[in-house]
Amino acid sequence: MDFFISEEHKMIQDAAREFAQNELKPGVVERDSAMTYPTEGVKGMAELGFLGMMVDPKYGGSGLDTLSYVLAIEEISKIDNSCSVIMSVNNSLVCAGIEKYGSEETKQKYLPQLATGQKLGAFCLSEPEAGSDATSQRTTAIDMGDHYLLNGTKNWITNGKKASYYVVIAQTDIEKGHKGINALVVEADWDGVSTGIKEDKLGIRSSDTSSVMFSDVKVPKENRLGPDGFGFKYAMWTLDGGRIGIAAQALGIAGGSYELALQYSHERETFGKPINKHQAIAFKLADMAIDIEAAKLMVYRSAWLKDQGHPYGQAAAMAKVYASEVAMKHSVEAVQIHGGYGFVKEYHVERLMRDAKITQIYEGTSEIQRMVVSRGVIKGNVYIPVT
Ligand code: CAA
Repeated sequence: MDFFISEEHKMIQDAAREFAQNELKPGVVERDSAMTYPTEGVKGMAELGFLGMMVDPKYGGSGLDTLSYVLAIEEISKIDNSCSVIMSVNNSLVCAGIEKYGSEETKQKYLPQLATGQKLGAFCLSEPEAGSDATSQRTTAIDMGDHYLLNGTKNWITNGKKASYYVVIAQTDIEKGHKGINALVVEADWDGVSTGIKEDKLGIRSSDTSSVMFSDVKVPKENRLGPDGFGFKYAMWTLDGGRIGIAAQALGIAGGSYELALQYSHERETFGKPINKHQAIAFKLADMAIDIEAAKLMVYRSAWLKDQGHPYGQAAAMAKVYASEVAMKHSVEAVQIHGGYGFVKEYHVERLMRDAKITQIYEGTSEIQRMVVSRGVIKGNVYIPVT
């Protein structure tokens, strides 16, 4: 076992950290308050190759591994989680699935623009009545011979209003249950596609989240990803990878909260000494460090399993549950350590605390992750064999 990251990984981590500190931190409080979309931040991520990190360079991507992606998301999430969710969705939920299951023609048509960040993508699975229970799709894609006729509404779609391309999960044959679902690439400017208002959210407020509506949209058959009826498995496969990205986001929120709390604990004095000389605060910092180290090992291992070609869905679900709980718990503690200042926006920790909550909800709630983990555990899957 080697617990050190390579020099190449370190360079990516440093580049992401520098970018987040220098380019994303200025204005992050104001963007969050006013729900202003991070246009410059997205442009910067595109220039760094962060919007198609794992895509083959022949389709315009950076050709990097999952660990590189995790390290970059982690650093960006210490500062701006509206940017990191945009990055995560474009990489994991859009580019990865198109690259794995799209035809050569589809890949050539869509990936170069998505991977370079000239255009953004969105993943449309959730519906007003189908969030956790993803097989209960009400959106329909009726087979009309040479095309599908798409009708329905998708909710809480990240990049909803900014995306040029949507990957839409829809029911073609209700009799077949999950085997009657398809995944289709839909262009935002096609007739019948519209979006709702930008949602006013608790956290990740400057990211673009909206409903997306489809009314008699004609989708050419060649825009289907994978064989007929493969859409549910397509979505599950995509989410397995996406959960690694969200786990990395949660890790970044926890790490960012910890770094701010640690720094503040050196600067702030009470009863004649820095607050970290009081055991009440020192033990909080110790608990943060312990939990973050454990979360880091789980998140990096899930990325490593994927990079090595091992099954990783269960590890990704474990990492997401744990890292998101650590993010929630310790962002609250970071506010506590800051006292009254922590309740004020310019100290950043209250934003991280609000951002943490969504990591326990999107790409499968913590309850869904426990379903995935428990099914694996009951089958006897373990990652570190015991003799
Ligand atoms: N990979 C490939 N195939 C899989 C799979 C996986 N990870 N998991 C399940 N499948 C297959 C099964 O093998 C099964 O196939 P067969 O019938 O051929 O054997 C089929 O899919 C159905 O599987 P299940 O019976 O396990 O399905 P289920 O109805 O019990 O659901 C679930 C499983 C884990 C609860 C799933 O519905 C789920 O993950 N729900 C949460 C959905 C979710 O994450 N939504 C978030 C929206 S996206 C988002 O948040 C984006 C954003 O903007 C940030």
